[in-house]
Amino acid sequence: MFRFWLLVACAAATVAQFGINHTQYGGSPAVYPSPRTVGSGGWDAALEKARKFVSALTVDEKAQMVTGTSGPCVGNIAPIERLNFSGLCLHDGPLSVRQAIYVSVFSAGVSAAASWDRSLVRQRGVYMGTEFRDKGAHVALGPVVGALGRSPFAGRNWEGFSPDAYLSGVLVEETIHGIQSAGVQACTKHYIGKNPAVVNGITIEAVSSNLDDKTMHETYLWPFANAIRAGTSSVMCSYQRINGSYGCQNSKTLNGLLKQELGFQGYVMSDWLATHSGIPSIEAGLDMNMPGGINFPAPTPSFWGENITVSVNNGSLSEARLDDMVVRIMTPYFHLGQESDFPAIDGYTPQLGFYGALGYPHNFTLGPVVDARRNEHTQLIRDLGAAGTVLLKNTDGALPLKNPSNIGVLGNDAADFTSGQYSLVLSSTGLFDGDYNIGTLAVGGGSGTGRFSHVVSPLGAIKARAESYGGVVQYITDNDQIVHGGLTALAPLPLDVCLVFLKSWASEGDDRATLVADWNSTAVVEKTAAACNNTIVVLHGAAPNTMPWRNNPNVTAILAAHMPGQESGDSIVDILWGDVDPSGRLPYTIAHEDTDYAKNLVNSTELLTTTDPDAWQADFVEGNLIDYKEFDALNASVAFEFGFGLSYAVFGVSDLQIDVAVKSAEKMPDPAAPIQPGGNVELWTTLATVTATVSNTGSIAGATVPQLYLSYPEEAGAPVRSLRGFEKVTLDAGASASLRFPLSRRDLSYWDTVTQEWTLPTGAVRAYVGFSSRDLPLSGAFAVPIATIPTSEEIKMARAP
Ligand code: BGC
Repeated sequence: MFRFWLLVACAAATVAQFGINHTQYGGSPAVYPSPRTVGSGGWDAALEKARKFVSALTVDEKAQMVTGTSGPCVGNIAPIERLNFSGLCLHDGPLSVRQAIYVSVFSAGVSAAASWDRSLVRQRGVYMGTEFRDKGAHVALGPVVGALGRSPFAGRNWEGFSPDAYLSGVLVEETIHGIQSAGVQACTKHYIGKNPAVVNGITIEAVSSNLDDKTMHETYLWPFANAIRAGTSSVMCSYQRINGSYGCQNSKTLNGLLKQELGFQGYVMSDWLATHSGIPSIEAGLDMNMPGGINFPAPTPSFWGENITVSVNNGSLSEARLDDMVVRIMTPYFHLGQESDFPAIDGYTPQLGFYGALGYPHNFTLGPVVDARRNEHTQLIRDLGAAGTVLLKNTDGALPLKNPSNIGVLGNDAADFTSGQYSLVLSSTGLFDGDYNIGTLAVGGGSGTGRFSHVVSPLGAIKARAESYGGVVQYITDNDQIVHGGLTALAPLPLDVCLVFLKSWASEGDDRATLVADWNSTAVVEKTAAACNNTIVVLHGAAPNTMPWRNNPNVTAILAAHMPGQESGDSIVDILWGDVDPSGRLPYTIAHEDTDYAKNLVNSTELLTTTDPDAWQADFVEGNLIDYKEFDALNASVAFEFGFGLSYAVFGVSDLQIDVAVKSAEKMPDPAAPIQPGGNVELWTTLATVTATVSNTGSIAGATVPQLYLSYPEEAGAPVRSLRGFEKVTLDAGASASLRFPLSRRDLSYWDTVTQEWTLPTGAVRAYVGFSSRDLPLSGAFAVPIATIPTSEEIKMARAP
């Protein structure tokens, strides 16, 4: 009921503030022409090379450069041999080179987010980039910051990081820096407001995400701004409409927000088959059409290709716009040095492709089949899997384990795979989705998945650990057997400890029906806990998970282990036996029950029965209030709050200090200041710094994540509290460290929809430091003194050309 009134209040407020009329949200204003790239952000030398390259192309070749073709990779731009250009190879995805063998399957985005560890996330990016390069892939189709996680049920949330825009923003930057430092282009996706609406596994692409300008900037555009600032080479526009206009044909979001406001210098690539037109999408800012025309699963034209040549020749499309598209595509290529010594496309690649398997018209050069140096990446995956594991409950020090003699391992997630090592298999019976019964779930499915060269199962790793000291491991990995037969096959009961492994499947095209773990998980826990008074539950897979059994006194510990990747078993053993202190923290909220969350999914069954395209609407009536910001607005109790997680060590924070760096600051950034990738440069200057001390007050070494939240004056129309800083800190027993949280102008501002500027609120901002969004022992207020408040007339004049 609370929720209903909150939504009514939000909707009313939004409508009143922004003049939104139900589904249309004011529509999507036209922004033309598409801005030309100028090579800012250090890309000038590469821009010159790209211009030179383009000047040597015929119109046909230019058309070919912007239109995908069938080839060995997931996406292909054809070679131009006379210019020694061997084409572009684009590969999924955010955690692995999906369409390849002998590659690593890294921890998923959700695990990276749960680690809150900048350096591990950066290193993950470096190693992923290395593997893409070894396989001859110029472009990695990741990282993901859309869907952001508006709906906890959405099937693709795990590909990205967190529903918190700030946390996602920091981690997307680290990932892009990592990937691109290895000489591979990052393609940040899916832009923007991606919202699931799925019928029988097929995404309904015409659903419109309707959102107001304030929400757009403060929540959904925020992490994309970080991605642009980090120099992402490419941005993938998404399938659905935004305020009524297709994501890959939306001049407001592509020309306006991305290329003008954020100063994006790279290229916009369409999601696969998300291009719906020729000239309109090109004029709206789309630079590359993927995968181009294909014959699979049905003949589908590209709208582009030779039609572009015709359009240029008959004058309906300016060649200057076409040139800019190719220049945008080639500038990052030269900037990253991809023109020389780039490995050839791995020889096995075509065998694995959906699009390329049947042969292709262009002459792509294939190299040998190589191993992507997997051995060098194993330790990082293991470490990140452990670092992304969150300890939620630990009664009387149940964990870490003290070398128990009799160990029970229960649940279908504990076992090794039983249905193959790749979940996206097309067979005569359809698309096998990997949601099978017995076998561990180390990453999700769909285009964001990976092909495992090996996996360390939880059961395998636990057996190895127990054997090292003579412990005995007994196991039942068939959930039906546990539910119907209990633990009677095991002896002597009760065992010292029962480790229950549960899993939650999620995939592109497969949203979650419930947030309770799959495969009769509640009965599995209850049956186990009835026979075992020291039951420890480990959850793998999609998150969040609600846990009906979490207060059962025999459930002594709970670990949200997410999607750790291929070293899963070793990652969890490191935590269970205490070799690694659990330092993961929740990058989302866990509510008491599924119904406590706003579902925020379009009712696709209704969509199927309507012929009215205007019925296909997803109104973001909650505005910025997703995840913890919603629960805080409701002052609602939750099971485990955003930012929460236990360590084996004990920590405290003290000595909060706030230093305001400027004597006075303009309320808005100087509109005449340069626009660099990421937006107006003044948005990124530090205006204040919060410092504090964190101490390990316990008797063992450990790691924790102090967090900074801000509350803004009413003028900002902001959530109760917003994350604006965090740091992963490892400390010996008794040791302390200084914390430093710099706050940029953007961190301190709200988006003013009238002036169209990030704006500093006048008055006191309150800073909170602690260990979760609801455990904030330190707080203090400060104000950035505002110099002058410009009138709207002055703003208009400052903006005038
Ligand atoms: C997904 C993209 C992916 C592409 C290529 C689409 O269905 O939405 O994320 O990169 O397929 O596989």
